[in-house]
Amino acid sequence: MITCRNVTKRFRNGNTETTVINDVSLHIEKGEFVALTGKSGSGKSTLLNMIGLIEVPDSGTIDIAGSDTGRMTDIQRAEIRNHKLGYIFQSFYLEERYNVFRNIEMPLLISDVPKAERKKRISECMEYVDISEKSGQPAETLSGGEKQRVCIARALANDPDIILADEPCGNLDSVNTERVMELLRKLSDAGKTILMVTHSMEDAQYADRIITLRDGVITDEDRK
Ligand SMILES: Nc1ncnc2c1ncn2[C@@H]1O[C@H](COP(=O)(O)OP(=O)(O)OP(=O)(O)O)[C@@H](O)[C@H]1O
Ligand SMILES: [Mg+2]
Repeated sequence: MITCRNVTKRFRNGNTETTVINDVSLHIEKGEFVALTGKSGSGKSTLLNMIGLIEVPDSGTIDIAGSDTGRMTDIQRAEIRNHKLGYIFQSFYLEERYNVFRNIEMPLLISDVPKAERKKRISECMEYVDISEKSGQPAETLSGGEKQRVCIARALANDPDIILADEPCGNLDSVNTERVMELLRKLSDAGKTILMVTHSMEDAQYADRIITLRDGVITDEDRK
């Protein structure tokens, strides 16, 4: 489902150039749940963002669902971002003034889904993450755990094959962390492919495989 071949990414700060991802190759099967761990600054978010088509590698190739994303037009990349990928972030990135329903509706509006179908999808997604009761409430009035469940519902709205999560439990207490991790595990069992960045070895245990990055290089792969 996801294949990286010899992916390298450098960032330039003034006159110094640092290699943040150094010749990384990895393959993630359809339905696999992979945790990406490593110290702060090891390149986890950079790698996730390249797979998520938010950043572009300097060299190497990334295939999503069998297609080389480097050879795609901007329109094709946007199509993959909207339909094949669902994103979950540590800091949520919700529209705080919008209610839960409207936040989940956003990706469906971008994809021009008709109104009746939107309503049905939003209800299903709210039910899946158990947030239906808060449908009309502005995001700013929700707890951290509730916000992250709204983010998961929003990520699921277009029924993507792949879920990309960057520290989804980074701002949550242990009770909400467990709830979010169980939701991700349930999505994985339902056939979604999941790549999750985490600092927590406890959260990584929910995954099928743990990949460790160090200074932009994969140093360890632990398949359970
Ligand atoms: N846009 C950028 N410009 C310059 N340097 C960057 C940029 N983005 C990331 N970096 C650098 O690349 C390195 C890896 O960053 P990245 O965010 O991928 O690390 P991370 O493993 O996700 O860390 P954390 O656990 O703290 O989130 C860091 O040294 C960071 O400063
Ligand atoms: Mg990061």
